[in-house]
Amino acid sequence: MDEINQNVIIVGNEKFVPMITDEEIQKRVKELGAQIDSDYKGKLPIFIGVLNGSFMFLADLLKNLTIHCEMDFFKLSSYGDRKISSGNVKLLKELNADINERHVIIVEDIVDTGLSINYIKTLLSEYKPASIKFASLLVKPASVKYDIKIDYIGFEISDKFVIGYGLDYAQKYRNLSSIYVLSE
Ligand code: IMP
Ligand code: MG
Repeated sequence: MDEINQNVIIVGNEKFVPMITDEEIQKRVKELGAQIDSDYKGKLPIFIGVLNGSFMFLADLLKNLTIHCEMDFFKLSSYGDRKISSGNVKLLKELNADINERHVIIVEDIVDTGLSINYIKTLLSEYKPASIKFASLLVKPASVKYDIKIDYIGFEISDKFVIGYGLDYAQKYRNLSSIYVLSE
């Protein structure tokens, strides 16, 4: 059995410890919101969240905007129930919105190898949007293998497995309001 408390999360014989608090996340998301607000002033951007991990970041980010915006979702899968990327991406849910000539902002929970975001970039370019930018709450710079600019970054973190605030381990822990890291 695993247990959740404020200071440590035990999963089998693995231990996760606090990394980024709820308050730190909210403060940073507010700053990113203000930046996007001014960058897209007078435009109507469409935010595209990558499910499932981005749901919490996308919701909080959009609450910090004063400009009008729209949203849609992609669903990708690459991790399965393990902690290491399987190396291939499957598209599980297509977009519903027409993004031709639109200003698109892709919203990710975390960029690890960059495989998912690279896949999305290739896919989206076929729809000929007016512009594409990328936002990710977390980026693991040591692990990124593709040359893609992430325009809005919440936090750069070390190459360690993290959970919480949308990020899962075998589908659990997405509901935590702060981020925890696997301690070695
Ligand atoms: P990438 O394609 O290797 O960049 O991986 C991107 C996806 O893998 C993210 O959107 C997450 O869903 C998942 N992922 C990467 N690192 C972590 C992690 O540390 N914890 C939980 N999920 C992760
Ligand atoms: Mg994801």
